[in-house]
Order: sequence, then structure tokens, then C-alpha cells
Amino acid sequence: MGIRIIGVGKNLPERVVTNDEMSQYIDTDNEWILERTGIAQRHVATTEKSIDMAAAAAEEALEGIDKETIDLVIVATVTPDDITPSMAAQVKMAAGLPNAVAFDINAACSGFVYGLWIAESLMKGSAAGGSVTNGMKRALVIGTERMTRITNWVDRGTCILFGDGAGAAVLENDPDERGILSTFIKNYDDVNGVMKCKANYINPPFWEDDLTPQPLYMRGRAVFKFAVNAIDEVTRGALEKIGLTLDDVDWFVPHQANGRIIHAAAQKLGQPLEKFQISIKESANVSSATVPMALYDLESSGKLKKGDIIAVMGFGGGLCAAGAIIEW
Ligand code: ACO
Repeated sequence: MGIRIIGVGKNLPERVVTNDEMSQYIDTDNEWILERTGIAQRHVATTEKSIDMAAAAAEEALEGIDKETIDLVIVATVTPDDITPSMAAQVKMAAGLPNAVAFDINAACSGFVYGLWIAESLMKGSAAGGSVTNGMKRALVIGTERMTRITNWVDRGTCILFGDGAGAAVLENDPDERGILSTFIKNYDDVNGVMKCKANYINPPFWEDDLTPQPLYMRGRAVFKFAVNAIDEVTRGALEKIGLTLDDVDWFVPHQANGRIIHAAAQKLGQPLEKFQISIKESANVSSATVPMALYDLESSGKLKKGDIIAVMGFGGGLCAAGAIIEW
């Protein structure tokens, strides 16, 4: 019995902001951004909310699939439109999934891979809950982000990195397929506070501490080093669990944080760059959405074949990291 991916979807907001346009707002230029990050443009939501992008990606992933068979919706996001209802509850309603249990998770840019891990565990464990009584047949896992809402638009070292979008995958419990072969999840304490963003709540009149909203803060070089080591550790860890080697992997689908991080990770893993899906040039860093979006791009390229071994890898604030090995 395996939990395999049977559908993928992706949605990007219409508005494209090129590096040249960024240079109208901050002191930067196309060459610097392209060379240091691999990013040429980002999609920026103007009217699209996280839920709109999530629902659109979900609809695409669900094409041809009976919606009544979806038992679980997990949405990974650090930029939900609302604290309640959850994005997952809203996707369930928007997509019309009458039997699904729905909830959100926050594992920063690793969120989608954490979501796969949770969904797989629940589906394999036949967890009963809500309307689900006989185990979970199918699940929808989504990463959706409106990163440009938390981006610090006057910090040229970070605002150039982020964009908005969503990616989705439908998982199926299939006795005849292997699907997700292993996952390796790890959290590292962010003792130096290299990535943080303060939640923005209403200040009650009784509070005396400083609740001033703060956009995303990042120490770029420290994150860079963490990312390269974390990709290495979770990829090797996930492969080791099932006795596969790096050479057995046909495709690597890492979180798209920075093109140079992907290059450095490929070098550390001793694998050719041609095996890495790189989607960052067109859509930048969309936190939890980049892994499913990149998986979608790989699938759409026509390069993926049935039976191929894929390694998906996430890493992000927290600090957290996750790798999963999937047989396509
Ligand atoms: N345009 C022009 N110059 C810039 C820009 C910019 N957009 N940003 C920074 N600079 C300047 C700096 O001011 C500095 O100038 P100085 O030498 O005169 O002081 C110089 O460039 C070097 O700055 P660094 O911050 O040291 O540049 P670095 O080479 O480290 O690149 C970057 C910065 C791109 C952020 C890099 O550190 C990085 O990619 N880190 C990884 C972080 C990342 O990818 N995070 C993604 C989010 S986290 C996640 O998804 C898990």
C-alpha cells in the first residue's frame, strides 16, 4: 500500500513585477538580483487572496477526481488571509468537498512537505475523524502564500526574494502503488533569530509590551548556510531510511528560496544540476507554495516518467526542514 500523488495544480496572480520594476522602488538592479538569487520576476497579488490562489490550484489538481472522495485538506501557509476560518476550511467550502476534514499548518517554507508527511501518516494510519470512518482514501495538500503582505518593502536584501502563489497535490491511498517512500523531518532551534515575522494582532488596552507589527526579517547569509546544510541532511536522511542512494534519485525538487542555494546544495549532494527543478526565475520565493509549484512545473515539462524517484525538500523559518522521497 502506498500514498501516491494523482493530481497537481498551480496558481499565480496575474501581476508580474520584473527586477527592473523593483529598481523603481528600491536601490537595486536586474543584474544584482539575477546573479545573487536567480530571480528575474515575481508574481504579486493585487486583488488575489491566499484563499483564491489555494482554491484555484486545488481545482486544477482535482480535475477528473470525484470530490466526494477527498477525506482531508491540509493547507500549509505563513500568510493566511484569516486566523479563522482556516484556509483549509475555506478551500473545502470553495471547492465543494463535503467529506473532508480540513486544517492549516505553519512550517514556513517546509510547510508543503510537512503537509505530505501528516497526510501520509493519517492516511496510512486510517485515522478516523469527523465524517471519516473507514480510513482516508484521498487527501488534498496545498501550499499557498501572499508573501508580499509580510515582505519588508524597504529592505532591498529581502524584498527582492519573494512572490505570491499557490501549489496543490492530491494524494491517493493505493494498494498497488508505492508513492511516498519515506520522509525525514527535522527542526533546528533558531537561537540567533535569523528569520522572523511578528504576528499582527489588535493591541488590548491592558498590554504594556511592544506589539508593533514587524515585517519579515532575515539574516540572509545565515539562512543561506543553514539552507544548504539542511537540504543535504534531510535528503540523505530520507534516502537512508529506505536504502536508496542519491544516484537513485531522478529528480530533485527543492524549495525555491534562491537559485544559488540550489546550486550549492547540488554541489554538496554531488548531483548534476540537470536533475534539479529550478522554477525560481519566473516566480521567486513563495515559501510553502514553491515545492508543489515546482513539482507542477516538472510534471508539466513532460520529463517525469512513471516509476521515477523524486526527492522533494523544504527548509525555512523555525528553523525547520523536511525531505520526502516519492516514486512517481
Ligand atoms: N540590490 C543591490 N545591492 C544589494 C541588494 C539588492 N537587492 N541587497 C543587498 N545588497 C548589497 C548589500 O547592501 C551589501 O552592500 P555592502 O557590501 O555595500 O554593504 C552587498 O549587497 C552584499 O550584501 P549581502 O547581504 O552580504 O549579500 P549576499 O550576497 O549575502 O546576498 C541574499 C543577499 C540574496 C539575501 C543572500 O544572502 C541570500 O540569498 N540568502 C539566503 C536567504 C534566502 O534565500 N532566503 C529566502 C527566504 S528564507 C527561506 O525561504 C527559507
